[in-house]
Amino acid sequence: MPALSKILQQCRKWNSRHLLGIKDLSKSQIEQILRIALDLKGVPVDQLRKAAPLKGRRIFNFFVESSTRTKISFGIAARQLGAEVLDFSPGTSSLNKGESLKDTAKTIESMGVDFAVIRHPSSGAPEFLSRQIHGAVINAGDGASEHPTQALLDLLTIREATGRINRLKIALIGDIAHSRVARSNIWLHQKLGNEVTVCGPATLIPAGLPVTVSHDLDAILEKQDVVMMLRLQKERQEAGLLPSIREFSMLFGMTRERLDRLGKNAILMHPGPMNRGVEIAAEAADSHSAVILDQVGNGVVVRMAVLLLLKEALR
Ligand code: CP
Repeated sequence: MPALSKILQQCRKWNSRHLLGIKDLSKSQIEQILRIALDLKGVPVDQLRKAAPLKGRRIFNFFVESSTRTKISFGIAARQLGAEVLDFSPGTSSLNKGESLKDTAKTIESMGVDFAVIRHPSSGAPEFLSRQIHGAVINAGDGASEHPTQALLDLLTIREATGRINRLKIALIGDIAHSRVARSNIWLHQKLGNEVTVCGPATLIPAGLPVTVSHDLDAILEKQDVVMMLRLQKERQEAGLLPSIREFSMLFGMTRERLDRLGKNAILMHPGPMNRGVEIAAEAADSHSAVILDQVGNGVVVRMAVLLLLKEALR
């Protein structure tokens, strides 16, 4: 494993100021993030804390929408690298008094922040923010558009579980229409040349995606190396998209029976949070095929890698 000084040296070649989406990354940038995240796994936390490569930097965790995994892991990643983290709570902020996204960002920036990590219900909010402030902007999920660090941590998990990032068959199952995780994974695996199938009810699969489309989970299951169940976003369902959650679950849920039909080395993923008993049965979520908690754990190193790389463009 390379020493931390070598890893930091590798970061020097980075030249993008923001991470707004996987769509903006080249294949070699994706591979670079993955390599640095993998290398960081070999560096003990106390060594990271001692070296503190982000000492003196401030990170604004600007989450306007709920999050457990992403917000906490950005906080851990930033603190392990020696940065100061400012957590934003929309419920007690002046957003409640009608302050705009732009004014909120400018206000925080005037107190001195280097990175803004933003989650927002509107697609395009991170890109808008990147035009308003001088610091680096990281998209932590915007509407149904992108969730780039999720797709990157998914890739790291796939790499660790299967030993490769190419020649893969990947199926994304369920509510594709509302899923930013699906879009970021589709763009990422398209760049890597992997074979992506999306499977779900016709009402939850948007037209025009560069993937194979299926409405029959049982027909595609056995061929996949990676099966990623997506959360049924009950809060974003317009009337009429689904006859019933029970029917969705019967047709597109990962049940115990379907789990038994996965390939011998296939892995089962879910970005979380899960609706147990809806898109994934508890027995499947807790099975040996599931790498769901590995995904969560990998969020910290991937987000450390992203912070270290973007720091280079802040200089
Ligand atoms: N996967 C994911 O983005 O989870 P959170 O909403 O908990 O951050």
